[in-house]
This record gives sequence, structure tokens and C-alpha cells, in this order.
Amino acid sequence: MDLHLQRGFFRWSILMIFLIFVGLVIKPNEALSSNRRTLFDSALAPPPPVGMCESSVIIHGYECQEFYVKTEDGYVLNIQRIPGRSSGGGMVNNQPVLLQHGVLVDGMTWLLNTPQQSLAFILADTGFDVWIANTRGTRFSRQHVSLDATQSAFWNWSWDELVDYDLPATFDFVFNQTGQKLHYVGHSMGTLIALASFSEGKLVDKVRSAALLSPVAYLSHMTTAIGVLAAKAFVGEITTLMGMAEFYPKGEEVAHFLNSLCNNPGIDCYDLMSSFTGKNCCLNDSTIDLFLKNEPQSTSTKNMVHLAQTVRDGIVSKFNYGIEARNLEHYGEDRPPIYNLSNIPSNVPLFISYGEKDALADVGDVGLLLDKLKFHEGDALTTLFIKDYAHADFIMGVNAKEMVYDALIAFFKRH
Ligand SMILES: *[C@@H]1O[C@H](CO)[C@@H](O)[C@H](O)[C@H]1NC(C)=O
Ligand SMILES: *[C@@H]1O[C@H](CO)[C@@H](O)[C@H](O)[C@H]1NC(C)=O
Ligand SMILES: *[C@@H]1O[C@H](CO)[C@@H](O)[C@H](O)[C@H]1NC(C)=O
Ligand SMILES: *[C@@H]1O[C@H](CO)[C@@H](O)[C@H](O)[C@H]1NC(C)=O
Repeated sequence: MDLHLQRGFFRWSILMIFLIFVGLVIKPNEALSSNRRTLFDSALAPPPPVGMCESSVIIHGYECQEFYVKTEDGYVLNIQRIPGRSSGGGMVNNQPVLLQHGVLVDGMTWLLNTPQQSLAFILADTGFDVWIANTRGTRFSRQHVSLDATQSAFWNWSWDELVDYDLPATFDFVFNQTGQKLHYVGHSMGTLIALASFSEGKLVDKVRSAALLSPVAYLSHMTTAIGVLAAKAFVGEITTLMGMAEFYPKGEEVAHFLNSLCNNPGIDCYDLMSSFTGKNCCLNDSTIDLFLKNEPQSTSTKNMVHLAQTVRDGIVSKFNYGIEARNLEHYGEDRPPIYNLSNIPSNVPLFISYGEKDALADVGDVGLLLDKLKFHEGDALTTLFIKDYAHADFIMGVNAKEMVYDALIAFFKRH
């Protein structure tokens, strides 16, 4: 294979990982058509006119506050708070819950269905104090004390930095504001960074319990083409790609690449995508339209590479610089240190829900994760398997309340 093709394959694999993480699968042919707003629209999205509270929460009659939190490495993250129904007037002392979205989307994904169907509103109605995180690089979290998002140094991070900086800053802020330990809900990469943090003993003193939806840690069963393609990534490519510091999924570069690939004879994008991502059972068409108006969001290319490494290597470890000398320089070892998930304290209450149709949080990989947690104390680990669910159903499924959230809330109330 020549260099040009290899580079093409690597970008293709990154794009596939995006589609899988976003879990948006059902209408790739429409997404590629030009007569509607699309996933791969190359026009730059206009800057959001108003914050998420105003656009998506207050309109439903809920109270909502915007906050900005600074991480230790200088990023300024936007957070929304929906304090929730006060339980009996006077002092509101609702338990805080932090919602952490996955890669290439932002906190808006928790707010796209009707209030009766969306987890953020359901939690608020149940009497929880809801906090919504927005990862660095997404549209409302693109400020930094000294860097600008147009500079490549702004994008010099992977999910290791979300473990080291974003999550601790967010946890500390909510903990300080409420004076209480937090419940946590993560989806997709939001589960990976929590598991990695807990395995290093971080946050465990501030977390009351954690719900992990579509848990992503091991990705080795994500076999077939995607694994193979990701494995094609090699050191030279990683270094070359670092030039494209911001991974902007709606950008010209990604759109051009996808279109040229799909025009290749013998490549059927429709089949490719549906076979990669798993078929979500229960999404509402209006919700998908709203999703496409709001997402996807940028992340760093380095983060996408790190995720590709997790697929390729089948282990959960820190970013691999690809060259022993550079790993040595960063870690003092020639290989990146692993996150040992068996070190998650066995008394941290975990609720793990996964779906049979999920092509990313594959049942086999969730099995590997559960094996790492096999010494977890009996009442501290609850698992919920949903037969028909794929990746996006857990946040946007019209029946997610009955299928997942009712059990999740019962779990929170027990802990
Ligand atoms: C990225 O950050 C690392 C430290 O994590 C530093 O060694 C490296 O020089 C930085 N690279 C760029 C291009 O800023
Ligand atoms: C939380 O409070 C502690 C102690 O008052 C303080 O050191 C820390 O900076 C605060 N963190 C945040 C994120 O406000
Ligand atoms: C789909 O979304 C629309 C708009 O939010 C809503 O009116 C409708 O009730 C939803 N349908 C279902 C089946 O939930
Ligand atoms: C991970 O941690 C467990 C429990 O502390 C330990 O038994 C195991 O050897 C560790 N695995 C690795 C690869 O370090």
C-alpha cells in the first residue's frame, strides 16, 4: 500500500471512530446528501448566540445557571446547573449529579429529547441538582487563560488531560458549590475518563456513585475493518496528523476525505457505516434533526489518535508517543503507563448499563471490563443489559426512561 493510501485509511479509521462514538448511524445516505443540513456539512457553524441554559433549558420552564470553571492547565469550561425541583420549600439540598458527555459532542446531548424523556430533566424532576459538563474544545468551552483556539498549542491534549484536569476541576467546583459528594453519569468517553480516574484513586473521595452508560474501556472486540484500519496507524502518520491540531468533524478536510472515499468504486458507505456502528433502536426523527443542528463538536486530533490507539492496542493506557525516546521523556518508561482498572476501589458504587446492539461498547469488551471489576463488593456493582439498545439509545432513546433511567435513579437513591 502506498503512503497516500495509508494516510487515507488512517483518516478514514478516525472518522469511523467518530461515527461510532457519536453512534449516529441510521441515515448515512441522508447525511451525505446535499439538500439538508448534514453531518459533513463543510460550512462553519456560526458561533452559538446564547448559552445552553437559555436555548434548551429555561424554555422548558426549568431554572438554570451557567458557570465557568478554570482547569489547572488554563482551560475555561462551561457548566450548566439545573437545581431541580425543591423538595418541600425552604432550603434546597438536592444531591448533585454530574452528567459527562462523550467525544465529539457536548452537554447538549442530554437535553435533546422532550423533558419527559431526557435524563437531565428527569433527574431534576426527581429532586436531583443536575450539573452538565462541557469538555474542552466544544463550542462553549473554547477559552483558555493564555491560548487561543486557533493556535495548535490549544489542542495539545488527549483524554489523559481530561482525566488529569477537566474532571478534577469540574468535580471540585460542584463539590465546593454544593458541599456534597457527587453522583456521576458518563456516556461513552465519559465512562472511560471516569474509570481511568478512579483507577488512579482520583475523585473517589468526592464521588457518591457512578452510572456508566455504554461503557468504553476495552475496544478490542470492535473487530472487523475498524480495528484493522486503526491498526494501520503508524508513527509517521501520527506525527503528520498532529499538524491538524483541531479535529473539526464538519471541516473541509474531513468532508473532502469522506466524499472522495465514498466515491471510490467498491466502497459502499451505507453498508460500511451501519455495520460499524450498530443500529440504534429507539431514536426520534425530530431529535436526530436537533442533534445534527447542534453536533458534532470539535476535539483534538491527539485525542482521536489516543482513542485509535486504544482500539489498536486493546489496552487502556496513556497516550503513546510512538517513539520510545519520547515515551521515555514523558513517562520515564519506553511504553506508556497503563490505567489498571482492577485498582478501582471495590467500594465505589458503579451502575453499568450496556446494549446488545452497541458496536462500540461491545458486549465482549464490557465483559472484559466486568472481569476487571470482579472483586467489586456485591452491592456496589449493578449491571443492566438492554437487548435492543445501541450506543446513542442510552442518551437519546425515546424509551430510555423506562429502559435505563428508572433503574439508574433507583440506584442513586440507594447510595
Ligand atoms: C505538548 O505538550 C507536551 C507536554 O504535555 C509538551 O512536551 C509538548 O512540547 C507540547 N507540544 C506542543 C506542540 O505544544
Ligand atoms: C474548592 O475549595 C477548596 C478549599 O476551599 C479550594 O482550595 C479549591 O480551590 C476550590 N476549588 C474550586 C474548583 O473552586
Ligand atoms: C419526538 O420529538 C418531538 C419533538 O420533541 C415530540 O413532539 C414527539 O412527541 C416525540 N416522539 C416520541 C415518540 O417521543
Ligand atoms: C493491576 O492491579 C491488580 C490489583 O491491584 C494487580 O493484581 C495486577 O497485577 C495489576 N496488573 C498490572 C498489569 O499491573
